[in-house]
Amino acid sequence: MWKGRFQVETSNLVQAYGESISFDWRLYPYDIQGSIAHSQVLRAAGILTDDEQQQIADGLTQIKADIDAGDFEFKTSLEDIHMNIESVLTERIGDVGAKLHTARSRNDQVALDVRLYCRDEVQQIHGLLTKLQQALLQLAQNHPEAVVPGYTHLQRGQPVLFAHHLLAYLEMLERDKGRLADAYQRINVMPLGSGALAGSTIPLDRQVAADILGFPAITQNSMDAVSDRDFIAELLFDFALVGTHLSRLSEDVILWASAEFGFIELSDAHTTGSSLMPQKKNPDVAEITRGKTGRLTGNLMSILTTLKGLPMTYNRDLQEDKEPLFDSIDTIKIAVDVFAEMMAEAKICEAVTAEATADPFLLATDIADYLVLKGVPFRHAHEIVGQLTAHSLSEQVPFQEIPLATYQTFSDVFADDVYDVLEVKKALDARVAVGAPSPANVAGQVSGWQDRLASEVAW
Ligand code: ARG
Repeated sequence: MWKGRFQVETSNLVQAYGESISFDWRLYPYDIQGSIAHSQVLRAAGILTDDEQQQIADGLTQIKADIDAGDFEFKTSLEDIHMNIESVLTERIGDVGAKLHTARSRNDQVALDVRLYCRDEVQQIHGLLTKLQQALLQLAQNHPEAVVPGYTHLQRGQPVLFAHHLLAYLEMLERDKGRLADAYQRINVMPLGSGALAGSTIPLDRQVAADILGFPAITQNSMDAVSDRDFIAELLFDFALVGTHLSRLSEDVILWASAEFGFIELSDAHTTGSSLMPQKKNPDVAEITRGKTGRLTGNLMSILTTLKGLPMTYNRDLQEDKEPLFDSIDTIKIAVDVFAEMMAEAKICEAVTAEATADPFLLATDIADYLVLKGVPFRHAHEIVGQLTAHSLSEQVPFQEIPLATYQTFSDVFADDVYDVLEVKKALDARVAVGAPSPANVAGQVSGWQDRLASEVAW
């Protein structure tokens, strides 16, 4: 492609070192789509005749069909997807093919291809996140009355509905979707026409390409356009955060599936056995996901580190943007998909979660609230119930079985109605403020999510 200036062939080692075709081949549909749009820009500029443009479009369409069919030989000597396609086009249609790269550089070409690719992938990932939300919602609906201890510090805290715990993840995933939708705005800007860095002396109507490719906006600075990878960095952050959320869910699932908790049973289809211990049923999907989150975070670090020292404008370092991007996209897609399948088929062991939630200490805060409602300042109420807890522990008597006379030795405010507080159902019913887990609130949230997810417009 640049043989004019050179007298010696590129060394084999340099070819092997610098090639990107082994991974950027996946951009081929976008490269072809972009090149067809560019040929139309060139026709509008009078560089190509109608007939020449048609030959180029037909040639490119044929190349796409060949690649789709696995009938195309990618050459490392041609470095990347852009030169592989252009070179075969010129081989096939002759000199007309050699006109395609007019007023274009691989710098604006690759920027365009990656934006087109990201647009597609972000839409798919958005849809997969909705699918996972639906699976978690389904699990919540399958067990609308299941109760579970809510934890802080992994110590039992207060009772909640299992559905409330699951809906927390719908909130996280909804924010993830919001971040992707926001990032999409910045991906969806058309860089073609920026050339190597300074546009072209050939007057191009860039709007033609933007219209053909469905971009609502065009980049406004050619130097920025060929070197901007912000959209990749922010996507890699967004994917790392999706991974972080999945990793937290993984940790919950792993705990819940242990004999110590026993809160959940995963389908055989989503667990694996041990090669040595016949009794084992392991939550590998959750463990793999927790593990893969490391790569997602690593890929974010990789792009940020690649970008930090780059002078304007395009530098070859930027070729290093693709493998982390592709890896994160592949990783997140299968992780979200497999989690959706696994959670939809999981079962909550309601008898076990009910027994765990029957731990009287989960209602200690409710007793303190009882005293507060009778006029005791909260700090005092906290201390009184702390002493009561110590008494319950040392005497091994649960709150429900402590006689009223004993209650009254801790505070004379206690009356017979204290026993009314000591029920999980009452404790839940009383938590009515917005965002709190009363069954009525949670049912409202479940139906709200149902409507929201069902009416979501597909991208
Ligand atoms: N393979 C290159 C990349 O992925 C394409 C752009 C190359 N541009 C250049 N001037 N060498 O970044």
